[in-house]
Amino acid sequence: MHIQARHFGEPEPRNPQSRTGPDLQRPGDSWPLDLPASGPDGTPDSNTVDVWRVSLAPSSERLEHLSAVLAPDEWIRVDRYRFVRDRQAFIAARGLLRVLLGRYLDCDPAAVGLHNDQNGKPGLTGDGDAAQISFNVSHSGGLGLIAVAQGTPIGIDLEEVREMSGLDSIAQRFFSAREMKDLALTTDSTCLDAFFRCWTRKEAYLKARGDGLAFPLDRFDVSLLPDQEPRIWAVDGDPSAGQAWRVHHLDPAPGYLGALVTPLQLSRLRRGDGSTIE
Ligand SMILES: CC(C)(COP(=O)(O)OP(=O)(O)OC[C@H]1O[C@@H](n2cnc3c(N)ncnc32)[C@H](O)[C@@H]1OP(=O)(O)O)[C@@H](O)C(=O)NCCC(=O)NCCS
Repeated sequence: MHIQARHFGEPEPRNPQSRTGPDLQRPGDSWPLDLPASGPDGTPDSNTVDVWRVSLAPSSERLEHLSAVLAPDEWIRVDRYRFVRDRQAFIAARGLLRVLLGRYLDCDPAAVGLHNDQNGKPGLTGDGDAAQISFNVSHSGGLGLIAVAQGTPIGIDLEEVREMSGLDSIAQRFFSAREMKDLALTTDSTCLDAFFRCWTRKEAYLKARGDGLAFPLDRFDVSLLPDQEPRIWAVDGDPSAGQAWRVHHLDPAPGYLGALVTPLQLSRLRRGDGSTIE
């Protein structure tokens, strides 16, 4: 997620090497950092979400391959980025999304029909299989996450955990009164993770709803303390509206936190290699 950079200046990543890729992977970590040569093995069933983890700093050869699948309107977006690193990250994220959706739909990545709804949420155009697949994307630092499910609304968010100036004022501006109260219970060593747990859960919920920033961030409360289950406490003060969604905590790479918000029936999370996250 990059909004904080746009709104609050460009913070340097806590570990600048993370943009180059290799340290995104923990020793013994089996979650692929790229799309495997083949798969997925069919559309996820009605209680499963596939979560794909991708590096957004691919080799130049890979970048060339991914560039070839972008549509003309996507090139207009590429040209708006000022820094080469950001252009390449967008090409990688959008190109890998097209390759992945092309595999689910069994079609050429360049032929995958994508459109944005009135709130900017991307979706697939067309009938048949395309109408059965929903997805959501998030990127931060050098990492991207793509979630794919069977036609139900889902929202995913990812953040590189990093020191930022004015953390308190950001929280005051965007977090609810209940979240601020919980944040005040953290210590110097737990505050940063709690902040980003809150941020990613709020963003993932907005993205699942599809509203973007049209839905005010202080109208709902999420959990953020380490001993709290990931959840939405209430929406407009109504706990049952929060219970209609499931919040999944994601721990995608060292120095990153993420969240996935799904309807209740989606209880199984699968990595790109088919292994179970939860
Ligand atoms: C656009 C927004 C949906 C997310 O943007 P973001 O968090 O900066 O960036 P992320 O990488 O996590 O997500 C961007 C992706 O979300 C998807 N997206 C865009 N609009 C969306 C919407 N209305 N609903 C769901 N997904 C959306 C797109 O795929 C986009 O990537 P792409 O355009 O490259 O394909 C929006 O919620 C936003 O701008 N949020 C920032 C608000 C903020 O300041 N929050 C403070 C902390 S709580």
